[in-house]
Order: sequence, then structure tokens, then C-alpha cells
Amino acid sequence: MDENHKPVELAKGVYWLGVIDWNLRDFHGFATPGGGTYNSYLIVDDKIALIDTVKAQFAGELIKSIKTLIDPSKIDYVIENHVEMDHSSSLPAIMRIAPQARVFATKHGKAGICNYYKAVGCDEWDFEVVETGSELSLGNRTLMFIETIMLHWPDSMHTYLKEDRILFSNDAFGQHIATSHRFNDKVGDVMDDAATYYANILMPFGSQVLAYVDKVKELGIEIDMIAPSHGIIWRQNPEQIINAYVRWASGETVPKVLVIYDTMWGSTERMAKEILHGVMSKDVDVKLLNLRKNDWSMIIKEILEAPVIAVGSPTVNNGMFFPVGGFLTYLKGLRPKGKKAVAFGSFGWGGGAVKAVEKEMESAGFEIIEPGLQVKFRPDEDELESCRKLGIRIADAAK
Ligand SMILES: Cc1cc2nc3c(=O)[nH]c(=O)nc-3n(C[C@H](O)[C@H](O)[C@H](O)COP(=O)(O)O)c2cc1C
Ligand SMILES: [Fe+2]
Ligand SMILES: [Fe+2]
Repeated sequence: MDENHKPVELAKGVYWLGVIDWNLRDFHGFATPGGGTYNSYLIVDDKIALIDTVKAQFAGELIKSIKTLIDPSKIDYVIENHVEMDHSSSLPAIMRIAPQARVFATKHGKAGICNYYKAVGCDEWDFEVVETGSELSLGNRTLMFIETIMLHWPDSMHTYLKEDRILFSNDAFGQHIATSHRFNDKVGDVMDDAATYYANILMPFGSQVLAYVDKVKELGIEIDMIAPSHGIIWRQNPEQIINAYVRWASGETVPKVLVIYDTMWGSTERMAKEILHGVMSKDVDVKLLNLRKNDWSMIIKEILEAPVIAVGSPTVNNGMFFPVGGFLTYLKGLRPKGKKAVAFGSFGWGGGAVKAVEKEMESAGFEIIEPGLQVKFRPDEDELESCRKLGIRIADAAK
């Protein structure tokens, strides 16, 4: 049998039956060089509950997986933790097979599902709107719902299986990787993948992350396993991912500098490399990141733990080179907090890129630590020396 269709048991009667998308390389703009997964879960008790579905293109695979365990027309409840397409777009296929199933979602979840699936019968579905603390008995077991508004959509929620102490956390605590094993104790360290995921999807919502962790404590929820909707399940030491989220959400950094730039004819790159050498001379970790040679989602992950970045752009038509502009637009939306920056770049006549970078970085919440360094056309030896000295100053600022 296709391994994709083989459910994996988390606890007695609790199964993973998602889809491993080995060929996923781009998840709405997020580079996924290692593929990804969409995790659904099935709980078979007196009542049968399906938690989340998968991307519509894999609906057939999900239904095949369910059939290896039960008759899918017998599903009693479908829990929709999140409206986004990767988790809800197979819901219409499930509802065609089990039209009597009751759909559980938050208020915003119900509204979102009805927006997307109006044309395919949503009006006929039996919804139950839940909020934090609402419970659903499956017979021997109980599900409890926890709203996680803006983690990362207004409709998002988590589902907690009380007796088995399993938290179905949907997008939170996930990673975009495809692996043959489902549990963290079988796949080695995935913390870097979890960091990339956090940085690109959850970075704007740090205060919600911290409030969520407090809420979980207040509700007295004890967690033996965290089962997210992407990537591996945290079975061994699940606190490690909660602790990492608290660190990231609190803006904890390590001493390192990033030199992020793009260039048309190499002058801004020469500047970037000399800034890099200046930082290296102070024995501080530094990375040189060309915006057209690195996946932006990887650069964003580096920024998560970097206190200082230098951003370089040549001037094009009085402003920033467009890859730099595009990247800063993305970065600004992620609302990084407590970080410092400096701009640099080469120009030919009137200039404009460095000012534009500074303005954009400032409006993205960065503290500009000194006026940007500009060089006309190709930097000469003195100008390269100024770049090295700038590198030394930003290395000190990163410590
Ligand atoms: C298409 C294009 C448009 C440019 N527009 C401007 C401009 O409006 N103002 C300016 O000062 N320089 C302008 N320049 C000159 C570049 O800023 C200059 O060549 C710079 O040294 C390029 O840096 P780089 O080698 O890092 O690409 C332009 C160059 C190109 C190729
Ligand atoms: Fe999502
Ligand atoms: Fe998702």
C-alpha cells in the first residue's frame, strides 16, 4: 500500500492520516526545499471525529487513508481548526461522503468556511460554533477547544484531547518538511525547520504566542504530545517547541550579523563583502546573503535570531533595486521587533536607494544605528576601508 495511505497510531484509537507532499517546493511563496505534509487526525471512539483535512488535490488520498480504518460515511464530527485551504479544502469531499457530520469551528471559522464553500453546499452543513473551553464528548474521550485568534488567522483554534493529553495545534508548532517518520524522536533535530516556519508565518504574532502560552497554563492543560498540521509530531519532550516559541516570541537573539544585499554590476556586492570582513575581524558570526541567490524564507529565519542587519541596494531609477524593495516589503509585514539596521549601496548620479532602504527599515520598526554608507559607482580602497570599519561597528552593536 502507498505509505501515504497508512495511518500511524498516536495513542489507542487516535491516528495520523495526513499526506506527505514530497514534491512541494513552494508553499504560498515560502520555499520548501524539503517538501511538506498536511496532517489530519482521526479519533475512533463511540463517536468518530476527524480533525482537519488536507489540500483538495489530496482529498482522494485522505479518504483512502480513512477507509483503511473506518467507513468514512460514519464520521460524526469534523473539527476545522483553521479555514486556510491547506486544511479545509478537502472538507467538501468529506461532507459529500458524510453529509450528517457536524462541523466544529470558531465563529470566524464558520464564517470563513461558508465564504469559501458556499457553492458546494456549506449552507446545508450542521455547524457547531465553539469557543475556548467548549468541550465535545466522543464517549470515552473528550475534546476541548482553545481559540487562538490571530495565531495565525482570526479563525484559528487548537483542539485538546484531554484523556490522552494530545494537543492538535494546527499551524502552530509545525514545520514544512516531508519525512518518512511521523514523530520527532524518529527524525532527528527539526528545530531549524520549526524556526523557519515560525519566522515566516508566526513572527508578526509574538504577543499572541506569549498570551497563548499563559492561557494554556491557566487552563491547566498538560501536554504529552503536540500534533501540528504540518511536519512531525512532538512526542519526545514536547515542551522544547513551546519553549522555543517563547524564546522567539520574546525576541531573544544571538550575537550575529547579516549582510543582505543585491547588486546589478557588483559595486554594492564589493561593499557587502568588505562589511562582512569587518564583522569577521571582530570574531562575530556573520552571513552574506544575496537576495537573488537565497530563498527569502531562509533569510527571514536568519533574521529571527539576528540583532543587527546591514541592507545594501544599488540605486535604480532614483530608488531601491526591486529585489531589495520586494524583500523589505515582505520583512515589514513580519513586524520583527527590537532589531537594528544600517543601509549601504552604490549609486551613479542622484542616488536614492540608501535613503529609501532606511525609510523602509525604519517604518518596519528597525532602529537605524547610523546614516547609511553610499559610494559612487565602484568603491575605491578608501571606500572599502570605510565599509570594513562599518562592519566593525555593527559587530560591536551585535554583541
Ligand atoms: C537600470 C539602471 C538604472 C539606474 N538608475 C539610477 C538612478 O536613478 N540614480 C542613480 O544614482 N544611479 C542609477 N543607476 C546607476 C547605479 O546605481 C550604479 O551603476 C551603481 O554603481 C550600481 O551598483 P551595483 O554595481 O551594485 O549594481 C542606474 C543603473 C541602472 C543599470
Ligand atoms: Fe494557515
Ligand atoms: Fe497550514
